[in-house]
Amino acid sequence: MNQQVVLAIETSCDETSVAIVAGGSRVLANVVSSQVDLHARFGGVVPEVASRAHLELLEVVLQEALDEAEMTAVDIDAVAATHGPGLIGALLVGVSAAKALSVAWRVPYVGVNHMEGHLFATFLERPDLARPVVVLLVSGGHTMLVHLSELGRYRLLGSTTDDAAGEAFDKVARYLGLGYPGGPAIDRLSQEGRADAIAFPRGLLDDGLDFSFSGMKTSVINYVRKHPDTANADLAASFQEAVVDVLVAKTIRAATMTKAASVCLGGGVAANRRLRSRFAEAAAAGGFDCLVPDRAYCTDNAAMIAAAAAWRLSQDGPTGLDDGAAPNLKLPLID
Ligand code: KG4
Ligand code: ZN
Repeated sequence: MNQQVVLAIETSCDETSVAIVAGGSRVLANVVSSQVDLHARFGGVVPEVASRAHLELLEVVLQEALDEAEMTAVDIDAVAATHGPGLIGALLVGVSAAKALSVAWRVPYVGVNHMEGHLFATFLERPDLARPVVVLLVSGGHTMLVHLSELGRYRLLGSTTDDAAGEAFDKVARYLGLGYPGGPAIDRLSQEGRADAIAFPRGLLDDGLDFSFSGMKTSVINYVRKHPDTANADLAASFQEAVVDVLVAKTIRAATMTKAASVCLGGGVAANRRLRSRFAEAAAAGGFDCLVPDRAYCTDNAAMIAAAAAWRLSQDGPTGLDDGAAPNLKLPLID
């Protein structure tokens, strides 16, 4: 087995992360430094604050990753960074650092698509997961159902027509005064509430493979206006249940329609406890093999970027040093 050692940097949003992964799936270090505390008082990520914090944190996080892996520069065979999608200033910090290290250490540089990274979280744990796979990618900026017949061959089966799932969690949490980031706050609070307390609508539940979360978010707001005394825990649990219902139902529908062998999850929302358990249950009931990645590989982390980089390097070779950052980069699709 190829035991090439990739050091990857992830700075697309508000986590500064460096990982070292051998052979595409053996994680030797995965250090994540969250900037949550810096952004919390603003109620969301402030791009300029994020870039500056990445600059300040990156060197320390890099050293910590090398120490954790008990490695030095001479042990690294390639350096990777997320080059999009994400915040341009934040991306540039990681991309510039990775290119500088590639020159200094005389190793290839690999630019990685952040969403392909989320997709590879699964293959860190189960490189051999049975194909074809239907992947539900749910993050702060994306909600996608992707069909994967083999690595690199992605077909988009469905996506959101308005808000991303994570965005809906964040907006509802903000409205309920639960702070930032909203997804983890709703996840936590839901454990104290009743999922069947309020029957919020399930956007596009019976209709195809696309998603719509904006109406679900609005219905929470309208409900609170009419029933101001409702407990936040019941609102959170009921809203979460509605979102999970739609995500799970559409994944199983997509897997059934495409005769997939397995289903898996990726992206920050995949850290949601209710989604994880309902997803695994539904997959088992539908007869699909299933992988729900470790929570640490769902939210932004560089280990998934290293896994994607190792594969991309083997397929496409190194990325040129004249390649920049692309804030609106799309997942490469086959049709
Ligand atoms: O993948 P990610 O870390 O960053 C992006 O690429 O966007 O995803 C961040 C999103 C945020 O919207 C956050 O609220 C959501 O993932 N999230 C969660 C949970 N943890 C993070 N949503 C629901 N439940 C969680 N436990
Ligand atoms: Zn992400």
